[in-house]
Amino acid sequence: MAWEPAGGVQIAASILDADLGNLGNAIRRLERAGADRVHLDVMDGHFVPNLTFGPKTIRALRPRTRLPFDAHLMISNPARYIDEFIGAGCDSITIHVEIGEPIEPALQVIRRAGRRAGLAVKPATPLAALEPYRGLFEILLVMTVEPGFGGQAFMADAAAKIRAARADRRLADGPLEVQVDGGINVGTAATVGALGVDVIIAGSALFRKGRDMAAEMARIRGAADTGRVR
Ligand code: DX5
Ligand code: ZN
Repeated sequence: MAWEPAGGVQIAASILDADLGNLGNAIRRLERAGADRVHLDVMDGHFVPNLTFGPKTIRALRPRTRLPFDAHLMISNPARYIDEFIGAGCDSITIHVEIGEPIEPALQVIRRAGRRAGLAVKPATPLAALEPYRGLFEILLVMTVEPGFGGQAFMADAAAKIRAARADRRLADGPLEVQVDGGINVGTAATVGALGVDVIIAGSALFRKGRDMAAEMARIRGAADTGRVR
């Protein structure tokens, strides 16, 4: 699967605000609407005050699409479950730098399995928190909302962090993929595109009732690419 965006921004569609009673259909809709990846928000009710789904659900969804599965683990002690997410078919697995447990072992397991390892930072976490992991990951997920729920308002003060990450060519092991996650819609996509992000995660903006998902995705992609710098 082509990970490198062919010049434009990639859209990883989050199923957090999909009809959780019919996720297979939601994934089929996202694929037909033009999503580049499926963003899977795993929450444990401990690291964040919300509970979603785990490896078993992801394994059940895996045969429904050929799109890459991009897991965002908002959980404590992710190292304990990494093998299960790998076995469930996740192509990339992102853990939070704020977990307060050893991070390196989890990143190593992900990469040894040939999957892409990511680190996520909450809005209040400075980029400096990534220093100890320099060169051990390849995806940086910059949260532009407090993790835990979809449909929140975009936090624009992440711009400085995104710019700094974009400028730091040695943060990752090879080219760094910068993702933004939270509050992205047609109105905020241009802002993050101009910051040179590689991947936009969008959830509630795509699942609004009565909205044409493909048209919304095209509008978000167009807005992000219009002013995009690389
Ligand atoms: C929030 C999740 C996000 C969220 C995005 O904790 O990590 O991926 O689902 O949803 P929207 O696009 O509605 O902010
Ligand atoms: Zn997410």
